[in-house]
Amino acid sequence: MSADQHRHVVAIDGPAAAGKSTVARMLAEGLHALLFDTGSLYRALTLASIRAGIEPGDELALVSLALRMDIDLAPPTIADGRLADVLLDGEDVTWLIRSPEVDAIVSKVSGHRKVRDALLVHQRRIAAAGPVVMVGRDIGTVVVPDAGVKIFLDASDVERARRRHAELQARGEQVSLDWVLDDIRRRDEIDSTRAVAPLRAAEDAVRVSTDGLTIDEVVDVLDGIVRAHWGGQSGLTA
Ligand code: DC
Repeated sequence: MSADQHRHVVAIDGPAAAGKSTVARMLAEGLHALLFDTGSLYRALTLASIRAGIEPGDELALVSLALRMDIDLAPPTIADGRLADVLLDGEDVTWLIRSPEVDAIVSKVSGHRKVRDALLVHQRRIAAAGPVVMVGRDIGTVVVPDAGVKIFLDASDVERARRRHAELQARGEQVSLDWVLDDIRRRDEIDSTRAVAPLRAAEDAVRVSTDGLTIDEVVDVLDGIVRAHWGGQSGLTA
């Protein structure tokens, strides 16, 4: 892999519900880049494991499932707020993978080294294909360490819980704000203390806190960072 291979990758990492996906979509649109939310892969695998009756601690069964299932991301075909179509063995599971049931165990599923390895190859292939905004936890540190731009997006846990709660309510999910805050804290703890690829900012990442900023303001900040890295022009569309 040459040092320049991933110049056109914008890596956006950060904790759950920091606003990464929404902001990344707008940024990708402005830059004419593909949006690749890598959490979708872990979520689709988690959904498939629930359906198959596999325990979240059963690493080998999860890897075997990851290798035999067909996960595909495609540009959205339905205008219902989705960022992309997520297809699991051909079935549209875009919203099913965002359910509280998946939220509750996805951190455990994604904590296994072999599970992460099984999904890594796929992520790198997509990253090499062209201009892409990649969203995740370890894009700048592990998946694409030579990304042209690395951003670490953060916000306080209370702010993130408020946003995730509003999002779930809008979709008709009945959960309390306290439950969401507990869930976010629990996931932060698992994501940042796991042995394999823990959530942390890459040393050369630009850290951006979204507390008190609107989505448009955050997108403006990120757009400025990307363009500054390409000397005033969008290297992504070059
Ligand atoms: O961003 P999200 O909430 O959709 O991510 C779901 C889970 O997947 C989350 O617990 C962290 C994990 N994840 C990961 O470990 N590495 C990534 N690159 C993306 C997500």
